[in-house]
Amino acid sequence: MTRTLITGGTVVTAADEIDADVLIDGEQVVAVAAPGSVPFTADTTIDATGCLVIPGGVDGHTHMEMPFGGTFASDTFETGTRAAAWGGTTTIVDFAIQSQGGSLREGLDTWHGKADGNCAVDYAFHMILSDVNDQSLKEMESLVGEGVSSFKLFMAYPGVFYSDDGQILRAMQRAGDTGGLIMVHAENGIAIDVLVEQALAQGRTDPRWHGEVRRELLEAEATHRAIQLARVAGAPLYIVHLSASEALAEVAKAREMGVNAFAETCPQYLFLDVGELARPGFEGAKYVCSTPLRPAEHQQALWRGIRNDDVSVVSTDHCPFCFDGQKSLGLGDFSKIPNGMPGVETRMDLLHQAVVDGHISRRRWIEIACATPARMFGLYPRKGTIAPGSDADVVVYDPAATQVHSAATHHMNVDYSPYEGRTTTGKVRTVLSRGRVVLDDGEYLGEAGHGKFLVRDTCQYLR
Ligand code: URP
Ligand code: ZN
Ligand code: ZN
Repeated sequence: MTRTLITGGTVVTAADEIDADVLIDGEQVVAVAAPGSVPFTADTTIDATGCLVIPGGVDGHTHMEMPFGGTFASDTFETGTRAAAWGGTTTIVDFAIQSQGGSLREGLDTWHGKADGNCAVDYAFHMILSDVNDQSLKEMESLVGEGVSSFKLFMAYPGVFYSDDGQILRAMQRAGDTGGLIMVHAENGIAIDVLVEQALAQGRTDPRWHGEVRRELLEAEATHRAIQLARVAGAPLYIVHLSASEALAEVAKAREMGVNAFAETCPQYLFLDVGELARPGFEGAKYVCSTPLRPAEHQQALWRGIRNDDVSVVSTDHCPFCFDGQKSLGLGDFSKIPNGMPGVETRMDLLHQAVVDGHISRRRWIEIACATPARMFGLYPRKGTIAPGSDADVVVYDPAATQVHSAATHHMNVDYSPYEGRTTTGKVRTVLSRGRVVLDDGEYLGEAGHGKFLVRDTCQYLR
């Protein structure tokens, strides 16, 4: 087996920040040793002097090729996982989808078919339940056994992915019994649809109305309701893409009471605000996602939540749609703009910028982007850390390099960057996925099919 030695860097994990050499044998890390102390030569040496040596990012929320609003997210598993590698993310957890009237098995098999043989980095699946019934509830147990141990339910999007409270309660009860984790998209979709109808009737068709109708209080209300349902069911709960401070207050209150409620936010809610939706012309459509971007004051609450662990994970909700031809489906009717934004490539860099800006420490950066998502989704310590026995998913990260974000240079298959022209400090230099160098100094060296499906354990915060 090939031995690789990464020398001279500062190894940062959620627990430590130490000058150390990292020895890799084949696909795994075998030692983290004092600098210069490894007593033999490796086949390959990577000089990480001046750089951080960090675990590959774990993005717990992506939607490659997701069907939405009459189109499909523009990144395939091939293009999206390649972009992930460029951005220092070596594991994604994507969402397989149960179609209405279909079984979980059919949905999962379809998503395996999309991903198998196409991924540049390792991947796993959550399952979206769009049709909670006796059969799909029964199937949840076998999915947990196959490593698909988390299930997303939608309080939004009536008629598409929506589940009512009774269905959500039943799924939560089942998750409580099987060790599964319920993830909830917490927005009151029934009330939002009333506001959408009223806005359109008043001729309010621009993208900015997307942000107006998806009210903060309707996120907070749904978050509160999801938490109470989870308490009744005795099941843990993970709130996805939380953006409103009022919703965060609901999670904080529940956690204070000892409820197993976890929150995830995304870089777009930390670095962008609702003002983007009001850009001239139709430009605001680039920023249409749900939950929506919020007024800037919510960002401070989210950063505070990240620091005190009321927000445990920062994932991307990567769900890109091209401006030309996809976002444009909503010209003249904001409710027809496909919901979602690109982000799988930029998450690690934006969160490093948060270190530079003083919002979080380096270790917290690694915790929210690597270690906690790995633990939350049953992948730790294989993923999310650098330790003997871990997969050698390692990123050599230059904390001083700067870069300017642009659609002209990014690798996601989408024709715009939400961060066009923005400069951040810190840049991925080298990426290893299970011991193989897949990216080095601006050159992609990976291949489709290197990435393998990960059979996940259950949530590791609940044992
Ligand atoms: O706008 C979003 N978030 N699109 C992806 C689907 C979802 O709700 O996560
Ligand atoms: Zn969602
Ligand atoms: Zn999503």
